[in-house]
Amino acid sequence: MKRVELLVKDTLYNEYLERNVESETDIEVCRHDLQHHIDVARILYILVLEHNDLNYFMRESGITGKLAAKEVIYAAGLLHDVAKWKEYKIGVDHASQGSKLAREILPRAFFNPMETDIVCQAIYEHRNISRDMSFLGERLHRADNLSRVCSHCTYAGKCPKVMNKEIGISMTSFEY
Ligand SMILES: [Fe+2]
Repeated sequence: MKRVELLVKDTLYNEYLERNVESETDIEVCRHDLQHHIDVARILYILVLEHNDLNYFMRESGITGKLAAKEVIYAAGLLHDVAKWKEYKIGVDHASQGSKLAREILPRAFFNPMETDIVCQAIYEHRNISRDMSFLGERLHRADNLSRVCSHCTYAGKCPKVMNKEIGISMTSFEY
């Protein structure tokens, strides 16, 4: 996964993740660091594989080859919260801003315009579930929720996502 390795080493990507870490140093929220992004990328790929959807995704998106499809899936996970720092700083929606920042970063790791569009759309959509989401956007939303163990989180009592029931606090369900 050469392009994913390039992405993880990219200076702009790392600068934005560092801004996430700095923004969350003194506040009680779940972290949006490299670990979270790697967790979501791996869960997202598992979700696609578990349902035998890799070939469907390639056909539906026009991506040629399983390696390219895997790199696109990982890129969506690795970039999805890259603009979280902007939400803390100026109150903008991190999903729409993240899709803009991802559009800047992806070509630097040699993702082509079609692949960039697929990743950016998924990032744009990942915050809320809706009926007309893209295949990757819907899986990204689920992978993001599955990456957190809210039942054991010390911030759960204050978490807006838990309080608004956007995310389940039970650990009893492992249904994807
Ligand atoms: Fe996330």
